[in-house]
This record gives sequence, structure tokens and C-alpha cells, in this order.
Amino acid sequence: MAITDPEYTDADFQRVRGIAKDVAGIFLPESKRTLVYSRVARRVRENAKASFRDYLDFVQGPAGQVELEKLICALTTNVTSFFREKNHFTHLEEEVMPALSSRARAGGRVRLWSAACSTGPEPWSMAMSIMSVFPEAPTYDVRILATDINSNVVAQAASGLYPEAETEGISLDMRNRFMEPAGQGQLRFAGPICGLPAFRVLNLNAEWPMKGLFSAILCRNVVIYFDEVTRERLWRRLADKLEPGGFLYVGHSERVVSLRECGLEQVAPTIYRKGG
Ligand SMILES: C[S@@+](CC[C@H](N)C(=O)[O-])C[C@H]1O[C@@H](n2cnc3c(N)ncnc32)[C@H](O)[C@@H]1O
Repeated sequence: MAITDPEYTDADFQRVRGIAKDVAGIFLPESKRTLVYSRVARRVRENAKASFRDYLDFVQGPAGQVELEKLICALTTNVTSFFREKNHFTHLEEEVMPALSSRARAGGRVRLWSAACSTGPEPWSMAMSIMSVFPEAPTYDVRILATDINSNVVAQAASGLYPEAETEGISLDMRNRFMEPAGQGQLRFAGPICGLPAFRVLNLNAEWPMKGLFSAILCRNVVIYFDEVTRERLWRRLADKLEPGGFLYVGHSERVVSLRECGLEQVAPTIYRKGG
């Protein structure tokens, strides 16, 4: 049977936009019309539907919950890399970890959060930074929460397995120290470092189950997909999750506008500190 292109109308695009916004807070501008087609057409075909309309009726129908999650995954953009925006990791090592390691050694609790972790280079880079200045961290109450709305990338992140070519941002010294060959040109995180990150699926624009506060939150290159209202609401919620003196790191093209409302002060172009 010939594979035909599923029918895709403006009304279908508007429906996908509505779903992305309502479920994930993701704003899809008009310029994404073709991208949406190419990403969602595959889901339409996999579900053996002839048109976007039939597919979206199914997604929004009583049996559509699982497919709705797959649709959201298909609409996310997961570009990432190890030690992306290196200055954040230098700041973490030099300005943040000295006090946190003293606290941990004294029996205190230390929590950091990679709030849109994608396939994992961000939380694994945080773990390597922490261990480079505090090698015994995994033996203390130090943990990195790593979350993303996309369950596929969270599973990949949790595996700690990467093609060697993707690990270029990691120094040779760190690769030798924290990773082992896993066959077929792949490397895998191994040893005590694996005790630091915990991976979970979490929608930043839904309820959060976490009760405690964080010393540092990396929420980078995700609010670029949200509209301004969603963005500012998220900054406030993240600021509420920081302990006094804690740090929020945002992407290079992102900015917290409502500093006073969030109780944050800017300490570098993309680094904010919670007051108190
Ligand atoms: C471009 S990646 C950024 C990854 C990493 N933070 C970095 O800077 O390299 C954006 C990530 O945000 C996630 N994302 C999009 N909307 C989300 C939401 N509502 N809640 C949680 N994660 C979301 C996507 O699944 C994707 O993995």
C-alpha cells in the first residue's frame, strides 16, 4: 500500500498549537507550521490515521492520554551538549560548591536541579563539576534532580550512555575518570558519580511534587519555547524553590524580567541569586 501524506489543514495546526500550549506551555509560532507537520505526521501514520483531524480526535478522545504524551514528546526540541555555557559550570565549581561541600560534610542536605535536562548532558555535567571539586559528594546527602517533560529523553539521560562523538565537550581527564567504554563507539557514566543524579519526568508547567528547596537550579534553553506570561510565572515558581542565597542559571538568550517579584538579583548576565 502506498504511504500517502496525511491531510493537514490550518485548523489542524491551530489544534496542535492549542494542545502544546495547554498541556506543556509550549508556544508554536506560525513559522513552525511546516516543522509541526513533519514531526506530527509520523505520529499520524504510526496510529494508522488518514488525516491530522482523525489523529487529533483520537488524541483528545477518551483513549488518547498515552498518545497525547507522545505528541508532546514529538513537539519538544531537545538540542543540548556537555558543558554547554561553560561559565555556569565554572561558577558552580568556584562560587557555589565550596559552601555546599562544607554543608554536606557537616551532615547537611544539598539539592541541585536540572529543570529541563533533555538527554542528560546538563545534569551529568553538573555531576562532573561537583565531583571535580568535591570527590566524595556521592557519599554525602548531595543529589541532582534531573527532569524533563519528554519521557524518551529522560530514559536516555538515565542510561548515562552516549556516542563517543557526543562527549567531545568533556575533557579527556574527566572522560577517563567518570566514564567507561560501552561498546559500539559508546561511553557510559560509571562508578560513584551515578549516585548523584536522579531522573524524573516532570512538566514545568504543571504541579511539582518536590517539597524541599534547591541550592542551584539550571533552567536553560527551555523558556524560549514559552510565551512571556508562562515564562515569568515559571521564573517566580523556580525562585520560590530556591533556598536563600541559592542560584538560578538561565540560557544565554534568556532573562528574568521580574527580578524584584522573584526576589532575585542578577550576579552575571545569565546567573541570578536569591536574596535573604
Ligand atoms: C533545548 S532543550 C535544553 C536542554 C538543556 N537544558 C540545555 O540547555 O542544554 C529543551 C528541553 O526542554 C524540555 N521541555 C519543553 N517543555 C517543557 C516543559 N513544559 N516541562 C519540562 N520540560 C520541557 C524539552 O523536552 C527539551 O528537552
